[in-house]
Amino acid sequence: ASTLGASAAASGRYYGAAVAAYKLSDSVYSGILDREFTMVTPENEMKWDATEPSQGSFSYGSADQIVNHAVAAGQRIRGHALAWHSQQPGWAQNLSGSALRQAMVNHITNVAGHYRGKIYAWDVVNEAFADGSSGARRDSNLQRTGNDWIEVAFRTARAADPNAKLCYNDYNTDGVNAKSTAVYNMVVDFKARGVPIDCVGFQSHLNSASPLPGDYQANLQRFANLGVEVQITELDIAGSGTAQANDFAAVTRACLAVARCAGITVWGIRDTDSWRASSTPLLFDGNGNKKAAYTAVLDAL
Ligand code: XIL
Repeated sequence: ASTLGASAAASGRYYGAAVAAYKLSDSVYSGILDREFTMVTPENEMKWDATEPSQGSFSYGSADQIVNHAVAAGQRIRGHALAWHSQQPGWAQNLSGSALRQAMVNHITNVAGHYRGKIYAWDVVNEAFADGSSGARRDSNLQRTGNDWIEVAFRTARAADPNAKLCYNDYNTDGVNAKSTAVYNMVVDFKARGVPIDCVGFQSHLNSASPLPGDYQANLQRFANLGVEVQITELDIAGSGTAQANDFAAVTRACLAVARCAGITVWGIRDTDSWRASSTPLLFDGNGNKKAAYTAVLDAL
């Protein structure tokens, strides 16, 4: 096929992009979005600071814009992210203990409830594990409410939107390492105890100057073997030219080789849209032209 979305669909997968609401009026941007992509993740618009700027008062304007655009274009939606230590509103940053726990539950109930029936998968919890070799949870205000905060978040999300797949999402979990193994052990535990979890997201913020983890595919596969879907959720690869194109192709092949790898989302459309714009990590250049990396992905799909 001649687009990312159609090529991914040939094997039952999606190809997605992170989208910013304020760019939808840019016709070059939305032209590429609607031509190439079959899944959309709001880049910032569903985060806690955006959706509940003051406690108990919910604001869905920008997120709804993206959802409405996606529905009109026949794209599905990944919700991102219900519970995360970052991009919390100031009022939540100042809470702790049972007040923060209650606020988290209320937030998830309201936001997942607002979008009930419209979300393919939610990143219920984002980035809850520490970097490095400890395998520990990341210290955060949410973690300090008690180690059970993650399972409470998942149970709350399930109740609010029973048809959405519920994902755990993180970075530096792209190969087999202490951090990904800690996430793996959490999934094993959740499955054993009946805590709802359907998918694991691998952000995959990568750099073509360092080798891709050689066990990238094996890592996806070990999670898939637990019975969860795996998704590449925020792919971008710093670099340019052949090195970047080869890494994009390798990530694509890894997903295709894992039956439960449901799809790939790139974290932006043009290099200039990227949160790492100076590293030119995406598939289209600033003018919206296809890069070598685009062709490599299309050929690999
Ligand atoms: C980033 C956005 O791309 C930026 O626009 C924002 O300023 C900060 O957050 N991991 C995640 C994403 O889960 O939500 C982050 O998105 C990138 C890292």
